[in-house]
Amino acid sequence: MTTDAHDLRPPSGTPGLPSGFRWGVSTSAFQIEGAAAEDGRTPSIWDTFSRVPGAVTGGDTADVACDHYHRMPEDVALVAGLGVDTYRFSVAWPRVQPGGRGPVNARGLDFYDRLVDALLSAGVDPWITLHHWDLPQELEDAGGWAERGTAHRFADYALLVFGRLHDRVTTWTTLNEPWCVATYGYAEGTHAPGRRDRAAAVRAVHHQLLAHGEAVTRMRAASTRDGGHTFGITLNPTPTLPHTPEAKEAAEEAEAFGIRMYLEPLLRGHYPDTVLARLGREGFALPVEPGDLEVISAPLDVLGVNYYFTETVRADGTPVRDGATTALGWPVTPSGLTDLLVRLHRDHPGVPIVITENGAAFADAHLPHDQDRVDFLRAHIEAVAAAHAQGVDVRGYFAWTLLDNFEWAHGYGPTFGLFSVDRATQERTPKRSALWYRDFLKSRAAPTA
Ligand code: FCB
Repeated sequence: MTTDAHDLRPPSGTPGLPSGFRWGVSTSAFQIEGAAAEDGRTPSIWDTFSRVPGAVTGGDTADVACDHYHRMPEDVALVAGLGVDTYRFSVAWPRVQPGGRGPVNARGLDFYDRLVDALLSAGVDPWITLHHWDLPQELEDAGGWAERGTAHRFADYALLVFGRLHDRVTTWTTLNEPWCVATYGYAEGTHAPGRRDRAAAVRAVHHQLLAHGEAVTRMRAASTRDGGHTFGITLNPTPTLPHTPEAKEAAEEAEAFGIRMYLEPLLRGHYPDTVLARLGREGFALPVEPGDLEVISAPLDVLGVNYYFTETVRADGTPVRDGATTALGWPVTPSGLTDLLVRLHRDHPGVPIVITENGAAFADAHLPHDQDRVDFLRAHIEAVAAAHAQGVDVRGYFAWTLLDNFEWAHGYGPTFGLFSVDRATQERTPKRSALWYRDFLKSRAAPTA
């Protein structure tokens, strides 16, 4: 795909986006912070999992990662230099509340306090994700997301962080991609905690949604701010298309378990009948207690959508990937983002959407032109603008991600960053895509003639 000709055109269609449209960049704590055992932080399930032989490619760990914990001011300067108005980051639960219960660890919370202040003084709005997969190991030892108590622990933790930062942070996302946690973490065992237990995975879905609802309800009750706070959750609703007419059922099933099982309890207060019926046939049950669905469907101010690709499946459910792909083999399907947004807006009107992650792994061999990433970002931003033009209430777009980082079970191999990171020196270098994004945002900010 890479050509010698540089194509640095800005995305088209974006003048149609409103002036308040948010432009951002996203990261997550575990993938960049390092400092795994510093200032009172205890292990998360990802610290444990990455030490299991064979669990992470190359045996990589995130003990050091991008050393962001020590280089935070430098990284905030990179964020500000992009000209984004929003930085979405996550808080490491085992740093703030070691072990997942009990009192706050002041040194851990101080880090995020400093980060928030640094962002605000650089003119960047902090957007917090309370939990991006790094569950305290002690909670996993007590059953993890398969246990109802973890939902209550999460709400307690959310309140600790909210109590300290709500005066400066407006937007609060509870969880990132609960589907991945349940599916990869509890059913397939390819992510932490590495369990292969479908019954536990089903329970993990419900308990994560409950955790979200309880945390939102309690944070909203604690919010004293004029104009209030914005509360949401980030999902990864992967659209799934049938490869042939015979594959229709398989595609619908994938979407029932990948999209509707999350959106419908959150936005309509019930699980889809097809999901309940299928689980029932297989002898699984969602551990729903009276009142849970009211908690889960507590009003949402924003739905975070992480979009990477649209999947196409055969009748047996296996994916067909015969078009352009990224270095991870993920299909490049920008028009699928427009379709998804239009569909979400049609099925769930009245819920503002922000693209909280979108990006691609492309090999560093493609530098310095970085044309594939530029093309990818441009096409997806255009897809967002096209959805907006069709009336979708989409209010922001955040690129994944600031830095080449610890890409979960893939280790440091796949590079999603706008900035590369020298693993030996930690030196950050902007890729062409970073400069392109910066120039695009600058052009939007410039007064029109
Ligand atoms: C998403 C995760 C994020 C990152 C990207 C590539 O599923 O939320 O942390 O790994 O994929």
